[in-house]
Amino acid sequence: MRLARLIVGVFGLVFGPAFAGTVDTIFAHKHLGAASCASSVCHGANQRSADSPILGNEFSIWQQVDPHAKSFATLSTPESQAIARKLGLGDATKAKVCLDCHTHNVPDAMRGEKFLVDDGVSCEACHGGSEKWVAAHADPNADRTKLIADGLYPTNDPVARGKLCLTCHMGTTDRMITHEIMGAGHPRLSFELDTFTWLNPHYEIDADYIERKGEFNGSRDWALGQGIAAANLLDVLLDPNHGWNGIFPELVLFDCHACHRPMDGKQWGPRPGTGLGPGVVRLGDSNLVMYRHVLSVVNPGAAEKLLADTKALHRATLAGRDQTMAAARKVKADIESSLDQVAGYTFGEDTLGKVLGSLVRDAERGEFRDFAAAEQAALAAQSVVVAFETAKQLDEAAAKQLQAGVDRVYKTVENGDKYDMNQFVAALKALRAQAP
Ligand code: HEC
Ligand code: HEC
Ligand code: HEC
Ligand code: HEC
Repeated sequence: MRLARLIVGVFGLVFGPAFAGTVDTIFAHKHLGAASCASSVCHGANQRSADSPILGNEFSIWQQVDPHAKSFATLSTPESQAIARKLGLGDATKAKVCLDCHTHNVPDAMRGEKFLVDDGVSCEACHGGSEKWVAAHADPNADRTKLIADGLYPTNDPVARGKLCLTCHMGTTDRMITHEIMGAGHPRLSFELDTFTWLNPHYEIDADYIERKGEFNGSRDWALGQGIAAANLLDVLLDPNHGWNGIFPELVLFDCHACHRPMDGKQWGPRPGTGLGPGVVRLGDSNLVMYRHVLSVVNPGAAEKLLADTKALHRATLAGRDQTMAAARKVKADIESSLDQVAGYTFGEDTLGKVLGSLVRDAERGEFRDFAAAEQAALAAQSVVVAFETAKQLDEAAAKQLQAGVDRVYKTVENGDKYDMNQFVAALKALRAQAP
């Protein structure tokens, strides 16, 4: 995963009830293709426009720097061809399982004349099939509710955006990335909503954006992203067709390093948040751990309940499939019942200290023994620090120091195979000590 300097919007937005829709709306209408967005007076300018509220050069940004524009080409690389061959899929550029995530794989009947599958993850893969809204959407006075009803996807809503990104960046019951695909050599997926929203953006949050669409809040997006990802993990686990594979549960849902770790390491130690003993395969609970830290800020009582129910879920994996499903349903209910409260919470200036403090307390208990949770904690630290900087709570020198602290935390999670918990904990504590 690449690092980037991030820009995140200001604090204080109270966001309405969490998005309850589904990403299916993206596929509901005909897709006209990226070329139909690329006129120089629409989104295809060479430079950013001076007098338009939007950048105007979204198409060039996407085409030149956004990895989504190259995601179809990726399927022709020797690496992809090797993965497809090992899976017995033939040509990766024709295999549905790969196309579902590496391009906008809409059914033939829904493709307009300019639609090209080689465009990769193109405009309408995120903004929705544009047949019905394309004519109206350029009018600054267009009714946004109507545009959304006509298939424009609300990418500015963090819950809607999170659900969309996860369809490809985590895998859902419709588009699964399985351990079989990993075993053939696919890179491990890791995602954090706020950080990923600000890698290669073709949008800018300025005063007129806020007026049109409301504020962006990086901490809130981080927080909601964790809840949605945790709920998605449980959805897959609960799905009898995808969560299980013969006598085993789907291994992609488990902590990779619980199995993939040298045998002479003798690194095992207790993780209180699981209550499990040595030699046990653990669910990949990094998003659950992070969402507990979200709740520890927003609603401490709910955080306690989530911890208890998560431990019960870990224990249930040792008891049996039915017990696991029942426990997973309980954890999922905990998450879903709290999302609206998280969406409506004002992530203010005290959030930074609270989140970092909560992470450090867990770190001291040995909770970040597993790499994936430590990696998510590093992304969390980045997210709250940047949000804090953007809210201008710090002078430039202090902001620089804090960013250097985040970079040191990141350094300790650069390579999952070489992860050392003690180094991570030391860097995290140093960051906490620096923060106001
Ligand atoms: C239709 C599937 C799909 C959707 C939806 C999608 N992505 Fe991606 N994304 C990909 C693929 C595939 C890649 C890898 C491209 C490559 O390297 O070939 C990628 C790469 C990225 C990268 C670069 C990662 C890196 O390691 O540098 C970022 C950042 C990213 N996506 C953010 C997002 C965000 C934010 C969303 C939601 C708004 C999103 N994506 C939605 C498929 C998708
Ligand atoms: C559930 C969605 C999903 C499926 C299914 C999927 N991929 Fe990916 N793939 C991604 C995402 C997302 C990334 C980018 C990961 C990142 O950088 O965070 C990626 C990255 C890759 C990369 C590394 C690209 C790079 O720039 O380093 C290769 C190669 C690849 N995929 C090939 C395949 C092949 C071949 C298939 C079919 C067997 C496939 N993928 C199926 C989502 C998917
Ligand atoms: C991977 C998902 C993704 C893809 C692909 C994508 N966008 Fe976006 N787009 C977003 C997100 C996320 C935002 C920011 C949230 C918002 O304002 O909706 C956004 C915002 C925008 C905005 C609004 C900026 C504003 O100030 O209101 C425009 C215009 C836009 N995109 C055009 C395009 C065009 C044109 C393409 C194709 C060339 C494209 N997008 C491809 C996800 C995507
Ligand atoms: C329950 C244990 C278990 C878990 C959890 C697990 N794996 Fe595996 N993994 C295996 C086994 C067993 C193999 C097959 C080894 C072989 O064929 O020799 C394997 C093979 C692989 C391979 C191929 C290695 C090679 O040498 O070709 C990759 C890559 C991989 N796993 C990635 C992952 C990722 C990523 C995760 C987490 C999302 C994960 N695994 C979780 C047990 C596990």
